Amino acid sequence: MSESARQTVGIVGLGYVGLPLAGAFEAAGHRVVGFDIDSAKPQKLARADSYLPHLGQSLFDRLASSDRFRATCEEADLAECDAILVCVPTPVDVDRQPNLNFVRTTFEMIRRVHAPGCLVVLESTTWPGTTREVCLPILCRGGRTLGEDFFLAFAPEREDPGREEPMRSVPRLVGGLDEASQGRAVALYEQVCDAVVSVSSAEVAEAAKLLENTYRAVNIALVNEYKMILEQMGIDIHEVVDAAATKPFGFSRFDPGPGLGGHCIPVDPWYFAWAANRAGHPSRFVELAGEINAQMPKHAVNAVVSILAEDRVDIQGASVLILGVAYKKNVGDVRETPAAPIVEDLRGQGATVMYHDPLVPEFPKMRRFDVGLSSVPLTETLLRQVDAVLIVADHDLIDFDLVAEHASRVVDTRCALSPGDVKGTYRRA
Ligand SMILES: NC(=O)c1ccc[n+]([C@@H]2O[C@H](COP(=O)([O-])OP(=O)(O)OC[C@H]3O[C@@H](n4cnc5c(N)ncnc54)[C@H](O)[C@@H]3O)[C@@H](O)[C@H]2O)c1
Repeated sequence: MSESARQTVGIVGLGYVGLPLAGAFEAAGHRVVGFDIDSAKPQKLARADSYLPHLGQSLFDRLASSDRFRATCEEADLAECDAILVCVPTPVDVDRQPNLNFVRTTFEMIRRVHAPGCLVVLESTTWPGTTREVCLPILCRGGRTLGEDFFLAFAPEREDPGREEPMRSVPRLVGGLDEASQGRAVALYEQVCDAVVSVSSAEVAEAAKLLENTYRAVNIALVNEYKMILEQMGIDIHEVVDAAATKPFGFSRFDPGPGLGGHCIPVDPWYFAWAANRAGHPSRFVELAGEINAQMPKHAVNAVVSILAEDRVDIQGASVLILGVAYKKNVGDVRETPAAPIVEDLRGQGATVMYHDPLVPEFPKMRRFDVGLSSVPLTETLLRQVDAVLIVADHDLIDFDLVAEHASRVVDTRCALSPGDVKGTYRRA
């Protein structure tokens, strides 16, 4: 890449979304300044010390040795950037209200430091109108003007941790606040994405991102409800989904599970619900899906209680081994994981709980839960000792053959095992 084509791209927030993005711009030949308020991240990046294993060690090695990438906690370092992309958290509060504190703080900082003419793009998932109503007024403070002093767009991230698909092949939506911002943002993302989809406004891009994730939450709730109903009829939901998925049109596959997890699917629909209420038209789908999905951890616990009861083993005093505490297969992310309420519930009923998860050596303290457990090694002796095994995440690294051979009772929420393979009692839930 010629020096004139090379840009300096700032990435604010070096987490699940920001770090792969930084890697993509670096790989495309641009200079990248990665900024995070968590000082541990720049330090780890400088040492190639991986903190997101699913991204692969090679990304950390490449960034640590690159002369085009620099990670920093100094906001002044963003002053040299031609564009700044914002990838900070957008959580909900306990009452499910959107919390934009991270976004506001970040835009205050960008206003202090950005270079004249800088393109600023919000990537964090949020309600339609945020970029215009929340971010724009902050950048305009002090008499600055959109289209002259800065440019502003929304371009939602479609990262799916654990999916092999390279970022380049995932089409990128871009909605600018004016034509000039749109043009600049599209040109920037074309550097790292094969397809950039230009939409007419930031609001369309914001709403499209929420629709994508609400669609997942609602459809997962649908199969979860089907699961609970079909169980009453003695029909295996997994076989039913397999069968329905053979239809080549009109059916998209969703699989039931122990409950939602991760930063996006349990959270984003509440951003839509909040915006829907504000618009005076509450979303019934979001409320209902939230209610059904929230029942699933309890459903898994009930299955453990019942498999034990069949052998007259009381949950009070029983030992339960959870396999996989991450919210989904092959990632080490426990944010919003259903494993946390499951542990709490089992303990509340007097069970002793252990877990094995090669991707989560320590169960970190969470906002609502402090499980205080570490992963135990998965051995034949342990499997023989425990009263029940509950599969919550079916990582490839877990030795399910060992489980099938030695566990006396298995409750499987992920279809990780086949009934015929398990020597002990086996139940899907
Ligand atoms: N994780 C996903 O799969 C995913 C997918 C699509 C979209 N998103 C959205 O992307 C956004 C970021 O999510 P994530 O999963 O990357 O979060 P994350 O928690 O993994 O990373 C966010 C990073 O931002 C940093 N940060 C917080 N406040 C900051 C500030 N003021 N200045 C600089 N850095 C700050 C944190 O220290 C953290 O490193 C969210 O809006 C999320 O909904 C996430």
